[in-house]
Amino acid sequence: MRFWIVAAVLFAASGAARAQSCNVQAFEPCKACHALTRDAGQKPGPQLVGVIGRPVAGDPAFDYSPALRAARDKGDIWTRERLDLFLGDTEAMYPGGWMGSPPIRDAKARADLLCVLGGP
Ligand code: HEC
Repeated sequence: MRFWIVAAVLFAASGAARAQSCNVQAFEPCKACHALTRDAGQKPGPQLVGVIGRPVAGDPAFDYSPALRAARDKGDIWTRERLDLFLGDTEAMYPGGWMGSPPIRDAKARADLLCVLGGP
């Protein structure tokens, strides 16, 4: 019993430390369209809970562009590398996609976003 309490506290503490080590500010511009929780309600973009490792166009509640649906049908997965490229130039990666957000040219800003999106 005591072991489980200690384990739970350690687990909670490591989660908090991870959240603190990410620059959560980086996600501010994304918030208008995306949520990182499942209960945020409908937004103009898909929810991004656990997006790293998820298939492209993987939010069942969201109606994606043909470009992203084609990528999903091809079996594309959101690896860290793919996300990094997508955020760096969305249009180059999936031409005709509907994400109307400017490319993020700064590698540090993209690394911050990957941290927020997927932890370490
Ligand atoms: C103006 C609204 C808007 C903003 C701002 C925005 N997005 Fe998006 N995003 C979208 C839309 C719409 C889609 C779906 C695109 C499609 O279907 O082609 C999308 C798709 C995505 C996807 C793919 C999700 C999936 O399920 O395949 C990721 C990842 C993503 N956005 C990350 C971000 C990040 C990170 C930011 C902030 C830097 C951001 N977006 C800012 C509207 C937005």
